[in-house]
Parts: sequence; C-alpha cells; structure tokens
Amino acid sequence: MAANWKMHKTRSEAAESLRALAALLKNMPDEREAAVFAPFTALAASAEALAGSQVLLGAQNFYPETQGAFTGEVSLSMLRDCGCTHVLAGHSERRAIFGESPDFVGRKTAYALAGDFSVVLCIGETLEERDAGRLGEVLQMQLAAGLKDVPDAVDPARLSIAYEPVWAIGTGRVAGPEEILEAHAKVRTFLQARFLKQGKDIRILYGGSVKPENAGEIISLDNVNGVLVGGASLQAESFSRIVLA
Ligand code: PGA
Repeated sequence: MAANWKMHKTRSEAAESLRALAALLKNMPDEREAAVFAPFTALAASAEALAGSQVLLGAQNFYPETQGAFTGEVSLSMLRDCGCTHVLAGHSERRAIFGESPDFVGRKTAYALAGDFSVVLCIGETLEERDAGRLGEVLQMQLAAGLKDVPDAVDPARLSIAYEPVWAIGTGRVAGPEEILEAHAKVRTFLQARFLKQGKDIRILYGGSVKPENAGEIISLDNVNGVLVGGASLQAESFSRIVLA
C-alpha cells in the first residue's frame, strides 16, 4: 500500500503526518506493507519520524549513476543515506512532464534493483490510447522496456508494478472493476511469461483516484495486490484507512 506524496509537504508537515500515520498503523496486520514516497527535501525528517515503525520510506525519483556531473540529480546512495529503501520509476508524470522515455525508465528500474532498492515500476495508458483500442499494446511496450534489463531471477519481493491509467490519476475518475481486472490480467500474463514462477508473486498495484471509500473493493479484485495513492495519501487518517481496507 503505497503513498505518493508528489510535490507536497515541508519537513515539518511530513514528520507530523508520518508520526500520525505510524500511530494509526501500529497494529497493521503482518500481511500488509505500507510505504510512503516523500519528496527529497523531507526524506531525512521522514526517516526520523518513522523510526521504530513498520512504515517503509521511498523516494519518488533518482538518477541511475553513482555520482558525478549530473546537476540537480540525486543518487541511490544519497537516498539510502536518508533512510530510503524504495523508489518509484516510470510514473506517468515523470514520463509526460519530464520526458522520461520507456528505455530510460527501464534503465532506472534495473539500476535500482541492482542497487538493492525495492522498485515500483509505474505503467498506464492515456485516454487517447485506450479509446484507440491500444491498451494491450501500450502496457506490453511499457513493461517490455521497463523490465528489459531486469534479471530473470528477480526477487519478487523487491519489484512491484503499478497500473495507473493516466485518465484516472488525480481526476476523481477511478477505473471500474472490469477495466482494472482486464489491465491487471494483461500485466500478470506478461510477468509470468517474462519471469516464469516469480511472475506470479510480483505485486501488481492499482493507482488512480484511490480513496478510503473504494480501496477495499479495488484490492479484493483478482491480481490486485495493493494500491498506489496520490491525493488521498496526504492525510494520515485517510491513508491509514486505505492501508487497513
Ligand atoms: P491520485 O494519484 O491517487 O491522486 O489519482 C495516483 C498517482 O499518481 O500515483
């Protein structure tokens, strides 16, 4: 159950939210895993606020090189130093606003896994692509490129795929159960062909306008193993209800 805070929260706002979240999730069942992807500037304060809790900390972005002349970028070792164990790759906002190509997303995914991070690889079609009947083709392309350099023997505990239809992100328009089932089945088929046995255990998250009110129904669907939440993750109370849904 993942929270993507995007470009929200100062250090003190993040720390306050996470202390509240940790308290609300104190008795989280063992089979649930919760991670918060905080902005870079709030990571160190977030790690401190989460000390002793089961909530995991992730970053929303990184650059796939160890160090060097990459002005404005942040490396995995810098993230680890701030207490992060998880990263996102391929979020549609990175693809659309910052021009990250499918190949670059693939490079990042493989790089982070090789660097012992857990990765949530995000994929999803635009409304235009869906309306043109290109759902399968787009998911296939994004998965093939995103997982191109990932070893066949990947540890399924460290790789998740988030299916996030672009038209459902931040729009209040959640995909319907049929739409989610269809897309997640396609993702599972791809993963089993690509990773054989491990492909069954890689978690597939749904993202796009998930709220406490719809989270329970969404995670009960076949091949839905969790959710990636933007807007409704900004309040600890609302995200805790989703995590416990
Ligand atoms: P949303 O964002 O929950 O605000 O739709 C989801 C995401 O972008 O990961």
